[in-house]
Order: sequence, then C-alpha cells, then structure tokens
Amino acid sequence: MSSKNILITGASGLIGTRLTELLYQQGNHVAHLSRNHRQGKAKTFLWDINKKQIDPHAFEGTNTIVHLAGAGIADKPWTEERKWEILKSRTQSTQLLYEELRKRKHTVTSFISASAIGYYGFDDNEKKFKENDEPGTDFLANVVRQWEAEVDRISELGIRVVKIRIGIVLSEKGGALKEMVKPIKFWVGAPLGTGDQYISWIHLDDLAAMFLKAVEDEKMQGAYNGTGPYAVTNRDLTKAIAKQINRPVVLPAVPSFVLKTLLGEMADLVLKGSNVSSQKIEDAGFKFQYEKLESALADLLKK
Ligand SMILES: NC(=O)c1ccc[n+]([C@@H]2O[C@H](COP(=O)([O-])OP(=O)(O)OC[C@H]3O[C@@H](n4cnc5c(N)ncnc54)[C@H](OP(=O)(O)O)[C@@H]3O)[C@@H](O)[C@H]2O)c1
Repeated sequence: MSSKNILITGASGLIGTRLTELLYQQGNHVAHLSRNHRQGKAKTFLWDINKKQIDPHAFEGTNTIVHLAGAGIADKPWTEERKWEILKSRTQSTQLLYEELRKRKHTVTSFISASAIGYYGFDDNEKKFKENDEPGTDFLANVVRQWEAEVDRISELGIRVVKIRIGIVLSEKGGALKEMVKPIKFWVGAPLGTGDQYISWIHLDDLAAMFLKAVEDEKMQGAYNGTGPYAVTNRDLTKAIAKQINRPVVLPAVPSFVLKTLLGEMADLVLKGSNVSSQKIEDAGFKFQYEKLESALADLLKK
C-alpha cells in the first residue's frame, strides 16, 4: 500500500493512540487535530469547536481524515449539560470539518468516522443488528443518528465516507474492561442486572486494524459495524474475566434498581445491550485477530 497523509481528530484517546501507532508501523504520515498541544511523534494542529476555529495548515497535504473526537459517554453523570456536550462534541465538530472542507482548497479524498453501535438502541433479544437496520429512540441512539447525519453530509463534497459503528472496545489501557476488572480483582465482581444483556465487544487491536482497512480500502463506503463476531452476555464476560485473573464470582448479580438509583438514565449503559453482526466487514475481507473472548482476554489480561 502506498503511504498516506492522515489527520486524526480525538487522536489522544484510547482508539486514536493505538491507531496512530499502527498507521506509523505501516509507513504512513500522521498528524493530530486536537484541543491541546501534546508531545509526540505526530504533529499536533489545534482546533476550537466552540469558536469554530481550525488551524488553517491542518489539512495541508492530507488525503484522509479519521474523525474520532467526542466527549466520553461514560466519563461523567448525564446531566442535561453533559448530554449536550456529548452531542455537540460530535455533531458540531463534524460540521466544522465539513465547512472547512467546503470552503478550502484541499486534497482530502477519504473521511473515516467513528460511530457507535448505540445507533441501534438496546435490545436483549437474539436479533443481530445489521447496518441497514433502523436507529433506536433512546438518548444515545439519537446522538449517534445525528452524528452520522453530519458525517454523511461530507460525501456531498465528493469525499468517500466510512462510518465504523464501534462496539465495546476491550483494552487493558482503559474503557469498559478496566472498569470491569477492578471489582473482580478485589473479590466483589458480579454480573449486573439480569446479566443476560449482550455485550458486542471488539479487541482494540482489531478495531485499529479495521480503521486501517477503511483508510486503505477505497471500495469501503458507508456504515460498518465495528464489533467482533461473537457477542457475549454480561454474565459470561464477568465469568471469563474472573477466570482469566484467577478470581471466583461468588456474589449474586447487582440488582437493576441499585444501579438505576446510583446512575439514573446512565444505568442503561450497563443494564442493557445489543447483539451486533460483523458480517458486512467480514464480507469486505476483514479478518479478526481475536474472534473469541477467551483469546482476547488472554492477550489483554496476561501478567
Ligand atoms: N471506546 C469505546 O468503547 C467506544 C465505543 C463506541 C464508540 N466509540 C467512539 O469512538 C470515538 C473514540 O473513542 P475513544 O475510546 O478513543 O475515546 P476517548 O478515549 O474518550 O478519546 C476521545 C478524544 O476526543 C477528544 N475529546 C474529548 N472530549 C471532547 C470534547 N468535549 N470536544 C471535542 N473533542 C473531545 C479528546 O481528544 P483531544 O483532547 O486530543 O482533543 C479525546 O482524547 C469516540 O467518539 C467514541 O464515542 C468508542
């Protein structure tokens, strides 16, 4: 593959950090578009989404934009103010990129955006969500639908657009897995709610490889689910983590009402789930390195 010039937004986060490493390994040039300067191999350009400002040099020589920026979904309680931040950090950032691409002379031909399986809403049935299914109606589904609508507008500029609907990313460095390991390590791990809710997970390395494929494979276009082939239930994930770190799961499941009292609407994130299909990305030729949960956990939780 010929090397590309790639500009990544939100690159300082969990996914962007790993993707940056992988893009460099493949001989690409990488730059970051960030809210703050950071030391590192990649040059950082600054943007201020509220002020609608981007460093005018950010797009120079860029062929591909990878858009990952967004306020953390589970970082803070869902006050009205925080919900607005979660939405606008995604929609207004995409609008700003659209406006810059529309008015500036540029060389960008591909726009690869993060999205989320939250698009489908929650469903605890066996049904596997596919990319052409309708969006859900809860808060997160509405956020993702509006975010994707802004991303889709970029294709009006003649730019190839790919949206990766990311599932629960498993990494030893952060995200859901780190939070799940903590109580299990201290002997107080337990399934949450019914424990039957589906977790459509993906190993961070597989997700980064999926973004790399989307950057390189010009046949890819539109939405692709970014989840592994085998979703598991919350109970099975809890047990598999416990087994991997040699701890028993002896406690009964944490009742739903306790989590709802503690977390309010945000409890949906842990009490509900969805089973999502990876067929489309596999049909595009993507091969997972970590198909089964046991192999992913063995890699991530090795001592
Ligand atoms: N990790 C997952 O399990 C998962 C699942 C589904 C979807 N996703 C989506 O994938 C994208 C990347 O995920 P991630 O796990 O790498 O996220 P992350 O670790 O939270 O990083 C996101 C980055 O976005 C930027 N950011 C944070 N708050 C912002 C705000 N208010 N306005 C503008 N930019 C802001 C930050 O970069 P700077 O400080 O450099 O600006 C931050 O490093 C996110 O949009 C996320 O919603 C992730």
